[in-house]
Amino acid sequence: MKALLLAGGLGTRMRPLTEWMPKPMAPVGNRPWLEHLVLHLKDQGIDEFVFAVKHYPDRIRDYFGDGSRFGVRIEYAVETKLLGTAGAIKNAEPLLSDRFLVLNADIIYQVPLVPLLDYHAGHGGAVTIGLTEVDDPSHYGVVEQTDSGRIVRFVEKPQKQEAPSNRINAGVYVMEKKALSFIPPGRQVSIERETFPLLIQQGLGVYGMPLRGYWMDMGTRERYRQVHWDLLDRKLNLPLKGKENGKGIWQGENIEIGSGVLFVPPVLIGDRVRIGDRSVIGPYAVIGDDCELGRGVRCTETIVWDHCKVSHNTQLNHCIFGSDLEIGARQILYEAVMNRMPEAMLP
Ligand code: GTP
Repeated sequence: MKALLLAGGLGTRMRPLTEWMPKPMAPVGNRPWLEHLVLHLKDQGIDEFVFAVKHYPDRIRDYFGDGSRFGVRIEYAVETKLLGTAGAIKNAEPLLSDRFLVLNADIIYQVPLVPLLDYHAGHGGAVTIGLTEVDDPSHYGVVEQTDSGRIVRFVEKPQKQEAPSNRINAGVYVMEKKALSFIPPGRQVSIERETFPLLIQQGLGVYGMPLRGYWMDMGTRERYRQVHWDLLDRKLNLPLKGKENGKGIWQGENIEIGSGVLFVPPVLIGDRVRIGDRSVIGPYAVIGDDCELGRGVRCTETIVWDHCKVSHNTQLNHCIFGSDLEIGARQILYEAVMNRMPEAMLP
């Protein structure tokens, strides 16, 4: 079975980090999330992928190629204009198998998918939607289901007390190819707002099954931070590069640490990182590969992507820095989210 990964959105809520990069390529624990996702699916026996791409597609294609580096096969469905979640699936139709999985590639999942595939096969619907349960459904489209699991409607942003359930679409579906004949080609179509309601109305059988495991839509900067704190707390149990000292401090290879440096766990340090004397790193700090932190730097609740340079005595609190940034000495940064203009974009 093939998995179609939707990775073409603009990621506007995560700007400026996603200004030059598809959101699923944002690193999670110093490795693109999309790589974690491919490996997580491969562990569950899925090794054929179609990537639906639009926003900076070469960032994905250059990294993954045909997938052989990761022991999987990857094909690409490239959109020339944004087609929305259902439009992107329609555009990929020639590459899809009769039954296939679809995943929003910007959602952080660690979920077993075999039960979803079995459920789909057992119920015989056109689509089975993986569901996740939320405490407050009032910001989401909530499903109303029959006892057999069939979805009868989606209720958009209900009052908490009026919600028919607390189950929402988790961004994972098993689909039959015949459902694609209900998606008009060549225009923007939303699967949540248009296609699912149409399939329900046409009586094609849309089922929902709650998924177990870690689930977080990383779509905003706030949630992107939260994913990292969950990762460091091991609530999100992705493999981390580097050796752990047993106390929540992971260190990569070939790092140089000055005298009197204090790590306050949890902390993740990438490969070839240099940290100057008397710096204090953590709690909740993720430092990417090839970064250089000067002496006396303080770095708390902060994510720094690779190749960044932070000069001496600078303080970073609640920040997220994109790759290749340079921060001067004696700066105090609080909740800064920064990115660097790539060479090719300069006027
Ligand atoms: P925002 O602009 O912040 O809303 O982000 P987004 O549009 O990238 O994400 P959204 O949560 O709306 O989309 C869910 C998933 O579908 C993400 O993985 C997106 O990359 C993907 N997606 C959204 N629109 C498209 C599209 O037009 N084409 C493709 N291929 N993927 C899309």
